[in-house]
Formats: sequence, C-alpha cells, structure tokens
Amino acid sequence: MNSVRAFAPATVANVSCGFDILGFAIDAMGDVVEVREKKEPGLQVVSITGDGGRLPFEAEKNTCAVAIQAMLDELGHQVGMEIYLEKGLPLGSGMGSSAASAVAALVASNRLLGEPFEKKQLLPFAMVAEKVACGAGHADNVAPSLLGGFVLIRDYHPLDVIKLHVPEGLHCTLLHPHFELKTSDSRSVLRDSVSLKHSTIQSGNVAGLIAGLFQEDFELIGRSLRDVIAEPYRATLIPGFYEVKEAVKAAGALGMGISGSGPTLFALSKGEKTVQSIIDAAQQVYDSIGLGVDAYHSAINTKGAFVLE
Ligand code: HSE
Repeated sequence: MNSVRAFAPATVANVSCGFDILGFAIDAMGDVVEVREKKEPGLQVVSITGDGGRLPFEAEKNTCAVAIQAMLDELGHQVGMEIYLEKGLPLGSGMGSSAASAVAALVASNRLLGEPFEKKQLLPFAMVAEKVACGAGHADNVAPSLLGGFVLIRDYHPLDVIKLHVPEGLHCTLLHPHFELKTSDSRSVLRDSVSLKHSTIQSGNVAGLIAGLFQEDFELIGRSLRDVIAEPYRATLIPGFYEVKEAVKAAGALGMGISGSGPTLFALSKGEKTVQSIIDAAQQVYDSIGLGVDAYHSAINTKGAFVLE
C-alpha cells in the first residue's frame, strides 16, 4: 500500500458550558487527506484544495504535516510522505477545520505505516497541530473528530479522554454566518480567572449536560447549554448572537451556543422536526442585520475519522 485517503468530520467544541473539555462530531461535512509514500525522507504538502489558496504549504506550518511529523518523531524514524489536503470545511468557522485536517492526516498516515498506533493514541499528535494552528493545544475538536460521538477531556495532564453516551435522536443545526473568526482572536478576549460564583454555575451545567446525555433527558440537555465563562465575551464578536439564540429557542431548539470559538452557532434539538423552523428563525435575524448565513444539520456522528477504502 503506498497511498491512503482518510476522512475526518467537523466538530462542535465546548458545547456551551464545557470550555476546552467537551465536543462532539457531526455528520454533515469534514476534510479528506491523502498521503502517498515517497522515497526521500521528509514531508511535502503537494496540494490543497477548497481553501481559496490560503493555507500554508510549509511543513512546519501546515497542520497535516505538523501532526504527521509529531507522530514520526514519536516513532523515531523518518519516512517520506506527500500530503494532499481536500478542505471540506470553511476556515475560521468554529467547526473544527484545523482539527479535521490534522486528524484525517494522522488516520491516513497511521494506516500507511501499518497502524503502529491505536486511534486514541493519535490524539497528542493532533494536539501539537492545534497548537500550531491556533496557539492552544486544546483537544475538544481533535478528540471528537478522531473518535466520533460526544467526548469529555476530563484532564489534559495526563490526557484523560472519555466517550459519553449519545441519546438517540439528538440533532444539531449549525448556523455559519459569512465571516471568519480566528480561534486565537476569539481566545484573546477571554479572561484568565473565573469567579467562584461563575465556576459553580459552570460546573453545575457541565454536570447537568453529561447527566442529560446519559439519561436521554433532552430538556436537561437544553437547560444545561449555559456558558458564563466564554460566551459573554465571545458574543460581542458575533453580530446578532442573542437575537438568534432567542429566535431559535422560540422555534423549538433545546438550546443554542457558540460552536467552538465561533462564529458558527450550534442549536440542539430532539429529532429533525424543528430543524427547518430553527433555520428559518435564524435566517430572519441574519437577514435583518444583513449577514449571509449557511445552515447545516446533522445527527451526532458516532464514528469519527476513518480510512476511505
Ligand atoms: N475550546 C476551543 C476554544 C475550541 O473555545 O477556543 C476552538 O474551536
């Protein structure tokens, strides 16, 4: 086998209350990476499509190459590979774009090398790439993109990643307004410290969300989508945020929050019944403020990244 292609799905990180510790994967879209063996050692990014010519080809800046290099460093041998990246996700969207590229690259190259690592063991390499892409090696996009489902990062030191139960019928609508927000910019508006009061509120909601997932209690999931740590600051970067939130909840969403670092917003619902009303309600708000929006909806992806045979 001298070439392998892999797909990695988009993800919603944080899920409101779980800043840097919760995320889930969605079915709607993702990135594809092909790696090909080459004789000379070293990684070469040969082609990138779907990015409007904006992503770097230099191996030390490209998230695919950075992730693969981290894996090769761990293995202790250098292998030559060509990298072909097909972006299916918009950049700076909050849908885990850099994570999907890194994860697809790792799953493809791991297969090319005869699978020296189990899937979960690829996670630290993807986190190295996240650090290069946005300045923070957070795992709440790469972990669900790799493993699928709803994922909790219980701890980073050492890494402790736990897959959570996904209730049947939990559905996600993504609203992607037509502008970009860099994760690094969206992180720079956050505060370094959190009050005791906010810490209590936030922990209650994380616990409530996890209990809601396991008990398949959709109302509990909805009322636990509350974030007092990041959302109040990030909402200032996202026009119409509170209006959209009010509108989609009135249209039947269980709750709504910022997908990752934004500007995409995610709304959860029980089943698909209310999806069109949620999209229409959001569209009306975006129309009123003159902002274009793309809407996607999807069940929760429970499979994660995989090799395209
Ligand atoms: N947890 C990260 C953040 C996710 O909120 O900055 C970025 O997609």
